[in-house]
Parts: sequence; structure tokens; C-alpha cells
Amino acid sequence: MDHKYVLFEKKDGLGKIRLNRPEKLNALNPDVYGELEDLFIKCESDPEIKVILVVGSEKAFAAGADIEAMAKGDIALAYQMTDQSKRVLNRLSDMPKPTIAGISGYALGGGLELALCCDFRVASDNAVLGLPEIGLGIIPGGGGTQRLSRMIGAGRASELIFLGEPVKAERAEIWGLVNMVVGVDQMEAECERLAEKLMAKSPMALRAAKTSMCSGMNMGLKDGLTLEQDLFCMLFGTVDQKEGMAAFLEKRKASFKGM
Ligand code: COA
Repeated sequence: MDHKYVLFEKKDGLGKIRLNRPEKLNALNPDVYGELEDLFIKCESDPEIKVILVVGSEKAFAAGADIEAMAKGDIALAYQMTDQSKRVLNRLSDMPKPTIAGISGYALGGGLELALCCDFRVASDNAVLGLPEIGLGIIPGGGGTQRLSRMIGAGRASELIFLGEPVKAERAEIWGLVNMVVGVDQMEAECERLAEKLMAKSPMALRAAKTSMCSGMNMGLKDGLTLEQDLFCMLFGTVDQKEGMAAFLEKRKASFKGM
């Protein structure tokens, strides 16, 4: 697939996906989602890619779903668009490898919903995050009402969703919406440092941790605890568990193989 709106670079285990539609502040139209889907599939199936980073430009991570593409839409078009965005965003949130969103500038609407599908959010100090859909007479349709309230609680999510007013990076960090805030010039380097730390861990254990946390969130506590137990025990069949524990006992750094 030719990529017009999304760039991709693979380096030292990191798959870096860059939204690149600057003239529209990376607004997400069906073509952008299509290119993202293609790259998410590639990243998932490429064993050389250990961590995925999604970034935009300095002015905008993404300013939301493309309002122009939606403005004259009817119910059928809205279903068509959200069927696609739901499929693409679920693919990102279900990615069996760690994912990071590196956010500079605007992360609004679908842009924030994209970032919410990542495991980590690193924000630049110029980041502005919000769900302004209410001002357009609609609600977030890419998981915002679900993922945001699960992440930061219903009270704070209501503030963003009902009022449609964005928050700056500093407040987003206090709310637990982003993991850290760094200077705009250091944002990508910081994301890469985080990716390197993740790459030094066992991919099997990271995958199990992610499955346990993400699937567990949709279960009752008892089922979640059983899932965790099963995944914990499964890891004792991996080479990485033997290596991790041997390395501790031998007082050396573990070298994980993802097996
Ligand atoms: N959909 C379509 N186009 C968008 C867009 C979106 N979500 N967000 C920005 N753009 C376009 C603008 O229409 C403009 O295009 P033009 O130059 O052809 O007119 C271009 O991107 C630059 O945006 P502009 O509004 O001129 O930049 P700004 O710096 O003055 O304002 C924002 C930035 C983010 C505050 C403003 O663009 C905005 O409010 N965007 C919509 C955010 C939103 O409601 N998102 C949720 C959508 S469901």
C-alpha cells in the first residue's frame, strides 16, 4: 500500500509511525485510518519490531476526525466511518507489544482517542488534549467515552466530554492522562528512551502483562485474577523466565530472547 498521510520508519526494534497531513493538522480521514491500519498490521506481524511509537508533528498529534469528511454525512456514513475507526483503533489497543503515543500540540477528538489506545502517552509541554465533539453536536465516537473514563475516572472524563474544553499537558499529567511531560524538543528522544527500556524486558512477559491488564479490565475481579494466575503460570514455560531468574541469582543483567 502506498502511504500518503502516514510515514513509517523501523529502527533498532522500534516501529515509528508518523501522522503526516500537516495542512489539516493530521485530521483523521478514512485514507489516514486505512494507512494506519496497514501499518498496525505490519508492526504486529514483524518480529523485529518490539515497540511501536505513534507521533504527529510539533503543532498537532492529530486535531481529530476529519470534520469536512463528516459534515454532510448521514447515519449510514457515520456507521461506515466509525466501523473503520473502531476496527483500526482496536487493532492498536490490542497490539501484543508495547505502544507509545508521543504527543506534541493538539491531540483532540479522534487524535486523543488514538493516543488513548496506546499503553503510554508522553506529552510535550505544548500539548493540548481534549474531546471537543460536544461542540459539534456529537459525542466522541472512537472510544473516548469508554477508554477515557476507564483511564481517569468518570468525573474528570465528564469535564472533558461534556464541556468539550481541552486541557494542557501539565494538567493532563496530574490527571493521569499522560505519563510524563517533557520539552517539545526532547519528546521523541524521551519516547525512544522509554522504548529502549521496554525492549530490554522479556517480550513474553510484557505481552502477558498487557493481556492480563487489558482483558482483566473488562472482567469481574475473580475472572481477572484467574486470568492473571494462568498467564503468570504460563510464563514458567518460557526461556525468558529461566533467564530472568538465573540472571538475578548470578547477579548479572538478564538477556531476554522472547521465547
Ligand atoms: N477536521 C478537518 N480539518 C481540520 C480539523 C479537523 N478535525 N482540524 C483542523 N483542520 C484544518 C482546518 O480546517 C484548517 O484547514 P484550512 O487551512 O484548509 O482551512 C487547517 O486544518 C488548520 O487548522 P486551523 O483551524 O486553521 O488552525 P488553528 O491553529 O487556528 O486551530 C485547532 C487549531 C485545533 C484549535 C482547530 O483547527 C480546531 O478546532 N480543529 C477541530 C478540532 C475538533 O473539533 N476535533 C474533533 C473533531 S470530531
